[in-house]
Amino acid sequence: MKNLLVTGGAGFIGSNFVKYILNNTEYNVINFDKLTYAGNLENLSDIENNERYKFVKADICNQDEVKKTIEENNIDTIVNFAAESHVDRSILGAREFVVTNVLGTQVLLDCAKEFKLKKFLQVSTDEVYGSLPEDDKSIKFTEETPLASNSPYSSSKAGADLLCRAYFHTHNLPVLITRCSNNYGPYQFPEKLIPLMIAKAIDGEKLPVYGDGKNVRDWLYVDDHCSGILAVLEKGKNGDVYNIGGNNEWYNIDIVKLILKLLGKPEDNITYVKDRPGHDRRYAIDSSKIMNELGWAPKYQFPEGIEKTIQWYRDNEQWWRKVMSGEYLKYYEKNYSSKIS
Ligand code: NAD
Ligand code: TYD
Repeated sequence: MKNLLVTGGAGFIGSNFVKYILNNTEYNVINFDKLTYAGNLENLSDIENNERYKFVKADICNQDEVKKTIEENNIDTIVNFAAESHVDRSILGAREFVVTNVLGTQVLLDCAKEFKLKKFLQVSTDEVYGSLPEDDKSIKFTEETPLASNSPYSSSKAGADLLCRAYFHTHNLPVLITRCSNNYGPYQFPEKLIPLMIAKAIDGEKLPVYGDGKNVRDWLYVDDHCSGILAVLEKGKNGDVYNIGGNNEWYNIDIVKLILKLLGKPEDNITYVKDRPGHDRRYAIDSSKIMNELGWAPKYQFPEGIEKTIQWYRDNEQWWRKVMSGEYLKYYEKNYSSKIS
């Protein structure tokens, strides 16, 4: 493994992963990203001139672009982060989710097969398993839990997972799937719970908590997800699924209160709003397989991770203010215009 094609590398986890790989391995990284609203090359401004890094602006649904990029860069491995990733958006419209998450994955799988790549790693989510009962904390998602996705987002990810499984079984493609719980950390788009609440708290705005605030998510610091993916890539068994999670369940309302406390803000602005339709009640991951078989363990405990994250959003107000104003959309044209052919 030498040349990684990282799709969706301009997004939240993808950009953290690109840096993780450059800092912790010798691999070259080709970041292949369409730059949808969620793609922000400013996330990578500090490494954009690294000689082991290259950016290609393209769509994973475009087979010719994918093939050309594989050929030109001697790609031997694909790590697929590219996706529409926000549940609320998938409720407003599911089409893009099916196109990118399902069709795009199929295009990548076909290209991996044609070029006989050494590895194909699909970055999936614990949301494909559906929702857990909230009253029995001993039940968690294992790799054997049946797929029972409930949102258009998670269903499109489940569709992609099944295609990956099919290419392993039918074509013997060396496929690996990771299913991680909710991530938090630097560069997360402020439409997701934690960065949205940090931004609103700093600005003294109302903090919209869906339903009764008692939905449970299992939070993992983004670098720990990146180390888990690398462990699976280097040591995982082809055809296998690996859950990745932090054993760190929180009620949404408690996360919001913690953020306010750490920012020294009062709780008055917490506002309970209409629930998300089909809102999954609880996610919780059993990570024993990746821990026991591959020796992976999270490095960050939640108190440290959340403080680091809040500090990052405090220190990088410019970053999220540009995202919120839409100015970030001009970054590519401004900084890459000379390279656009
Ligand atoms: P994100 O929305 O921040 O980033 C997605 C990236 O994919 C963006 O850079 C976007 O431009 C790119 N993209 C979208 N459509 C594309 C296309 N057709 N072609 C090329 N690039 C395209 O997402 P994220 O939160 O970083 O999640 C990354 C992956 O991890 C997703 O596959 C998601 O399902 C999975 N995941 C996310 C979480 C989480 O908590 N965020 C947890 C588990 C798994
Ligand atoms: P989100 O970050 O959208 O991730 P996911 O839905 O993929 O788990 O939401 C995390 C939890 O926070 C989820 O239970 C929905 C809830 N939530 C709110 O209560 N208010 C909000 O404004 C958002 C964006 C999410």
